Amino acid sequence: MTARGRRIAVIPGDGIGEEVIDAGLRVLTAAVAEAGGTPLVVEGFDWSSRRYRRTGRLMPEDGIEIARTYDALYFGAVGDPEVPDDITLWGLLLPLRQQLDLYVNLRPIKLFPGVVSPLRDKGPEDIDILCVRENTEGEYAGIGGRAHLGHPTEVALQTDVFTRTGIERIARYAFELARTREGRLASITKSNASPYLYAFWDEVVDEVAGQYPDVACERLLVDAAAAFFVSQPERFDVVLASNLFGDILTDIGAVIQGSMGVAASANFNPAGGVPGLFEPVHGSAPDIAGRGIANPIGAIWAGALMLEHLQEKRAAALVMEAIADVLASGTCRTPDLGGNAGTEDVADALVAAVRQT
Ligand code: NAD
Ligand code: IPM
Ligand code: MN
Repeated sequence: MTARGRRIAVIPGDGIGEEVIDAGLRVLTAAVAEAGGTPLVVEGFDWSSRRYRRTGRLMPEDGIEIARTYDALYFGAVGDPEVPDDITLWGLLLPLRQQLDLYVNLRPIKLFPGVVSPLRDKGPEDIDILCVRENTEGEYAGIGGRAHLGHPTEVALQTDVFTRTGIERIARYAFELARTREGRLASITKSNASPYLYAFWDEVVDEVAGQYPDVACERLLVDAAAAFFVSQPERFDVVLASNLFGDILTDIGAVIQGSMGVAASANFNPAGGVPGLFEPVHGSAPDIAGRGIANPIGAIWAGALMLEHLQEKRAAALVMEAIADVLASGTCRTPDLGGNAGTEDVADALVAAVRQT
């Protein structure tokens, strides 16, 4: 924070990342002004695949240290059909999450009134889930290697890393959250097939559950959980998942709440001291990039999560009310939600709604 306001590092990234973040900034700025909140001092960064092609790096060598000096990071998406995904993701997004120790990845899954879920018999009362995804270790530990390249004996190894500290802290966060909601938590596992990693996960989660007797905790195998997301989403309130399982389940979550373009995500460390990173769940969507039709709502909702995190509660509430109103009215929607509006039209409608409330 400076005398001028809160410093936000804006990293639009690639593809539709740029389009949705532009739209998001317009809505967030309007909401903060309307709420009389502390202004956002926005600084843009070109950290992206384009920068990689020019310089050989997605972000500068001291990128993490630069990011650390901001109050929050507002992120679009990375991924470029011409650059291998492991280079782009391990060159930018995953190091930001891991090295800033943003161990909570919170992903709300909520069907807004007026939006039709592909689950035709489900309504807003059935789909209201908070996924708490472990965000710094597990299947995304990034440890492994390749050997004997090009030989018949060629081998690849990728090691998952689960630590007691890592499981305990994310479980504790999820149980605390469950207490503030319906007091129900589902822990997602695969200990039938992976008896070391997920049996350990189950053991540590059980220990933490013992300290929350007021929270009903069920254990579900990830394959069954994926099926229940589709057949009985109302079964879920808080979902606690490892890095990979949380990733997969929240894409299902995005679709059952109407579209990939609606889903939002907050990465943060509850202990504070580091900026959170706020982003839509979707990627750079090369199939629709550059056409001005990307749904900006996931990015804008992520922006509301950022405002809430920055204690701009009134501005955050204005953004969420505007999203709910515009979705309920059904008059301005991008094609993924069955409409024919563009990204900018939705941003315009949201800015107008923010100013009206
Ligand atoms: P994606 O999320 O980019 O797209 C999946 C599908 O959803 C596409 O058909 C796309 O058009 C649609 N979609 C996504 N966002 C939308 C929006 N806002 N409005 C309307 N439709 C939307 O996933 P993908 O195609 O698997 O990945 C594309 C690239 O993005 C890859 O390089 C991948 O690695 C990367 N990726 C990055 C992130 C991130 O930066 N957080 C997340 C996921 C994927
Ligand atoms: C997400 C994305 C990332 C993830 C990828 C792009 C590394 O899919 O944020 O959901 O798996 O975390
Ligand atoms: Mn994902």
